[in-house]
Amino acid sequence: MEIKKNRVYKLKTNAAEGNTGVDLQPESSEWVEQVRNLSMEYTRQTGKTRKFKIDVFGCQMNERDSETIAGMLTDMGYEEVPQDAFADIIVFVTCCVRENAEERVYGHIGALSKECEEKGAMIVACGCMMQQPHVVEKIKKSYRNVKIVFGTHNVHTFPELLYRYLTQRKRVFEIWDKADRIIEDLPVKRTEKHKAWVNIILGCNNFCSYCIVPHVRGRERSRSMEDVLAEIRALAQDGCKEITLLGQNVNSYGNDLGEKDLFARLLYAIEEIPGIERVRFMTSHPKDLSDSLIDAMAHCKKVCHHLHLPFQAGSDRILEKMNRKYTKEHYLNLVEKIKAAVPDMALTTDIIVGFPGETQEDFEETLDVVRKVGFDAAFMFIYSPRKGTPAAKLEQTTPSEVISQRFKALVDLQTEIGTELAKKTEGQILEVLVDGPSKQNPEMLSGRTRTNRLVNFKAEGQVEKGDLVDVEIVRAGAFWLEGRGGKKRG
Ligand code: SAH
Ligand code: SF4
Ligand code: F3S
Repeated sequence: MEIKKNRVYKLKTNAAEGNTGVDLQPESSEWVEQVRNLSMEYTRQTGKTRKFKIDVFGCQMNERDSETIAGMLTDMGYEEVPQDAFADIIVFVTCCVRENAEERVYGHIGALSKECEEKGAMIVACGCMMQQPHVVEKIKKSYRNVKIVFGTHNVHTFPELLYRYLTQRKRVFEIWDKADRIIEDLPVKRTEKHKAWVNIILGCNNFCSYCIVPHVRGRERSRSMEDVLAEIRALAQDGCKEITLLGQNVNSYGNDLGEKDLFARLLYAIEEIPGIERVRFMTSHPKDLSDSLIDAMAHCKKVCHHLHLPFQAGSDRILEKMNRKYTKEHYLNLVEKIKAAVPDMALTTDIIVGFPGETQEDFEETLDVVRKVGFDAAFMFIYSPRKGTPAAKLEQTTPSEVISQRFKALVDLQTEIGTELAKKTEGQILEVLVDGPSKQNPEMLSGRTRTNRLVNFKAEGQVEKGDLVDVEIVRAGAFWLEGRGGKKRG
């Protein structure tokens, strides 16, 4: 087994606490070494390597956290295996944004009882769900095969918790209720080489009344611009072409560091990094999207012309109850401004149907926004009450059949508009970053345009994952485009 040199994790105290740049050495990296010794001992005795797999739910934040967990496990001497293979450790990175996300996690954990009880696998549960005390209680009581639980604020303590479990064989539950620090230089095992997620701001301060995220991910904490740029430079040197900057609200990047407009400045700084061809970001809150950001999107050549701008609801009455802090008019004006600055900007959004007290009139306002804006795609959700959020206390006055009908009407309208917009790409030649074989048709390759549309195409000549190719679009549907002639760029 390859022995890596001991890695020092850096803990950075948030600037708001008045201590920027203080580097401490936590013990996490020592625990990595301790577990690695146990793994080597196991290999000496059995001739086998311990295996792991990770099941990720929820958003890109969790995807990125799972890359850190995979990095730690790899450093600790574990080997990642495919989902259908046996693993000694199965990690669940969970999401609690809607009830069905939670139910799926319980279902998956329950289905592993044979794997655990007869074959000796163990389950680790972490992620957003674990920040809720009632969930942890339920797991303690009813899911005995879950041996280690940690939360979103103490991912870096996983090596220590694993060491404790391996040496004492007692279930370990450790959840920190808040985070005032950012930990840099944790290990990472990236899922892809040609594209990467880069966190710029953690947590959320917005407290939309329906949303659990601020309760489980804590307040906003921005990484320093030097740390973000250093990570992107290292990625570029490693062959990465596309980065997606992540935050619940990237527009507040830097606010907690006392900086104004730092996000736009970050985009200009990334322009200067050789090797990076595409920059994406998500998510933008409509109340905070500044003119300087619109300017940056228009001027930075690497920034893709795709903006994910959730509007959630069209009715001002509902937006107020949601605590979104903007009106329908503000949103539509903002879209106008963006389209004026960047005419080919592709817009996508998130929409919630059936917020408590939503009337038919309110819902019509949502349909009106969908018609007026013309979104390439929309993530549409039925409202799900989340324990601990203010909206969960509101009475639901609309029958569920009515909500389902509204949801269907919205999906139908968006599909029609999305298809119409997609048709406009027929005959165009678009730049595609190749992600690998297509899921819909394995004989084809698949990738994304700069506007984030999925394209399946037959390539000309030698084309592989990570190449930028020009593809002629021959057929367009609402969800993917079909192209031909994918030729590698010079
Ligand atoms: N920070 C991002 C996304 C957060 S969660 C943003 O502000 O846009 C992703 C989406 O899930 C939200 O945009 C919202 O549409 C949806 N969502 C969040 N809480 C929900 C709930 N309780 N019920 C239904 N959908 C919800
Ligand atoms: Fe949730 Fe609102 Fe924060 Fe997005 S901005 S994570 S919807 S509270
Ligand atoms: Fe879910 Fe947590 Fe993301 S609740 S949507 S995984 S921040």
